[in-house]
Amino acid sequence: MSQTLLFQWFLFFFILLTSATAARVNIPRLSPTGPRIIENPSEILSELASDDLETFFYNQTLDHFNYQPESYTTFEQRYVINSKNWGGANANAPILVYFGAEESLDNDLAAVGFLSDNAVRFNALLLYIEHRYYGKSIPFGSREEALKNGSTRGYFNSAQAIADYAEIILHVKKSFRAENSPVIVIGGSYGGMLASWFRLKYPHIALGALASSAPVLYFDDITPQDGYYSIVTKDFREASETCLQTIQKSWGEIDEIASKPNGLSILSKKFKTCKPLADSDELKNYLDSMYSSAAQYNKPPTYPVNIICRGIDGSSDTENDTLSKIVAGLFAYKGDRSCYINAATNVSETGEGWRWQTCSEMVIPIGRGNDTMFPPDPFDLESYIQDCKNLYGVPPRPHWVTTYYGGHSIKLILQRFGSNIIFSNGLKDPYSSGGVLENLSDTITAVHTVNGSHCLDILYADKTADPEWLVSQREVEIKIIESWINNYYDDLSKQQ
Ligand SMILES: *[C@@H]1O[C@H](CO)[C@@H](O)[C@H](O)[C@H]1NC(C)=O
Ligand SMILES: *[C@@H]1O[C@H](CO)[C@@H](O)[C@H](O)[C@H]1NC(C)=O
Ligand SMILES: *[C@@H]1O[C@H](CO)[C@@H](O)[C@H](O)[C@H]1NC(C)=O
Ligand SMILES: *[C@@H]1O[C@H](CO)[C@@H](O)[C@H](O)[C@H]1NC(C)=O
Ligand SMILES: *[C@@H]1O[C@H](CO)[C@@H](O)[C@H](O)[C@H]1NC(C)=O
Ligand SMILES: *[C@@H]1O[C@H](CO)[C@@H](O)[C@H](O)[C@H]1NC(C)=O
Ligand SMILES: *[C@@H]1O[C@H](CO)[C@@H](O)[C@H](O)[C@H]1NC(C)=O
Repeated sequence: MSQTLLFQWFLFFFILLTSATAARVNIPRLSPTGPRIIENPSEILSELASDDLETFFYNQTLDHFNYQPESYTTFEQRYVINSKNWGGANANAPILVYFGAEESLDNDLAAVGFLSDNAVRFNALLLYIEHRYYGKSIPFGSREEALKNGSTRGYFNSAQAIADYAEIILHVKKSFRAENSPVIVIGGSYGGMLASWFRLKYPHIALGALASSAPVLYFDDITPQDGYYSIVTKDFREASETCLQTIQKSWGEIDEIASKPNGLSILSKKFKTCKPLADSDELKNYLDSMYSSAAQYNKPPTYPVNIICRGIDGSSDTENDTLSKIVAGLFAYKGDRSCYINAATNVSETGEGWRWQTCSEMVIPIGRGNDTMFPPDPFDLESYIQDCKNLYGVPPRPHWVTTYYGGHSIKLILQRFGSNIIFSNGLKDPYSSGGVLENLSDTITAVHTVNGSHCLDILYADKTADPEWLVSQREVEIKIIESWINNYYDDLSKQQ
């Protein structure tokens, strides 16, 4: 997939949040595809396999859990099918289902290759379902209407989303007369959490789940709050100790210059900002999200953390001060541009949607203690709640995820209850700090790689460039899924 078609958005999302009232509502985005959206996914899709992909819309129930008149309202939900390699209903050939998450399905189709890469091997029917309130699956006629007020936003939550998936999977199985075909659900990041939760809530619909980079334990107090930033720091330390030290030093220097008369304009000039900085937080938040997303999406072969550190460490003889090094890192990472930081932009649908999700259910308490490369900034639930109330008029429910899906004592709980879930992670991904990293039982397995980053395993395989450890991670996952399916076929044959 062409990098040039990708468009930076993460930062804008971040700045919007910090410049509005919600200074602390800035949980880094949870997506397989990195800090960007794909500018023209339809172009990529047509390059990929357009002939094989068929788009459908399902009349989805707005509210699965109530029986009031308005609950019966429907909206059109998009799903995409590729039946080219399917072995057919008579063979009970498997169905691989991708769970869309907080973005348009177009982006996922262009980035997530695990299903199509393995369609032949599994003789699988491929089904991709878009998450409600994103892409073309918007209730109330338009995104503006859907996000307008508390009543319309109220149907935008994970329980409704996985209920949608259940309905569509059953509908598709029925349409293909594939009632006995085993279903494997697959998702990355937030979508990975949905996949693992779906297996626990809907075992009669999904035989198993592949949950890639799913931080199911980053809720309540299960994971230390500085887990995320500790790993960002570790990634930079492993790339270069001097780079790490330069970054550590830079925060104080930014503050010091900013406090001088004319300081902000000096900084604006030095960092070539697109618009003058209003305060030093604007710059610090930008750099924070740059380092974080470089770590989260620290992919081979380029490894963005290395790119930044090579820039920072390779300072010229003429400009040897800390901030010049940071600027060199920024330019190395972003490439040649007319300006950096504060570029004019619009909030993406992901930015808008994910902000609501993090202000309702997905309260992931990410904070910074005092041993990361960032200034300390502990997670403050009280101010988080207040910021969300200011934005939406209602407080978030920080304990609902663990109440509804669990997470505490996960091994004790799931070792005898659950089965057939793969939790895959790359340990360089800051979100792996909230992932399941140990095998909970024979069939709830953790598959991780030391040098992997966010959701690498479910992206398109690249036969010429993928490192050996990534190839073998995928192979382990495929073998595990095959074993689930074979066991299922055994059980099925004994029944008939
Ligand atoms: C979906 O609902 C619309 C409007 O209610 C209706 O016109 C359409 O036929 C329905 N489609 C299906 C596939 O049921
Ligand atoms: C929210 O918008 C819907 C749809 O436009 C409308 O019917 C409803 O009355 C609004 N609710 C509130 C609380 O404003
Ligand atoms: C730049 O910094 C390095 C390391 O601190 C030092 O060895 C070098 O002499 C400095 N160069 C200049 C031109 O000041
Ligand atoms: C933002 O959206 C408006 C209206 O759709 C559009 O005219 C403008 O070009 C967009 N700006 C950017 C930076 O994308
Ligand atoms: C840093 O951590 C130590 C030990 O937990 C604590 O005593 C100290 O107050 C912390 N400093 C700051 C600035 O938070
Ligand atoms: C969990 O078990 C699988 C085999 O079922 C193995 O490949 C994997 O390495 C184990 N994970 C850990 C973290 O030990
Ligand atoms: C991870 O990457 C480092 C640096 O390239 C390398 O030295 C190490 O061997 C790798 N570890 C594994 C398990 O691949």
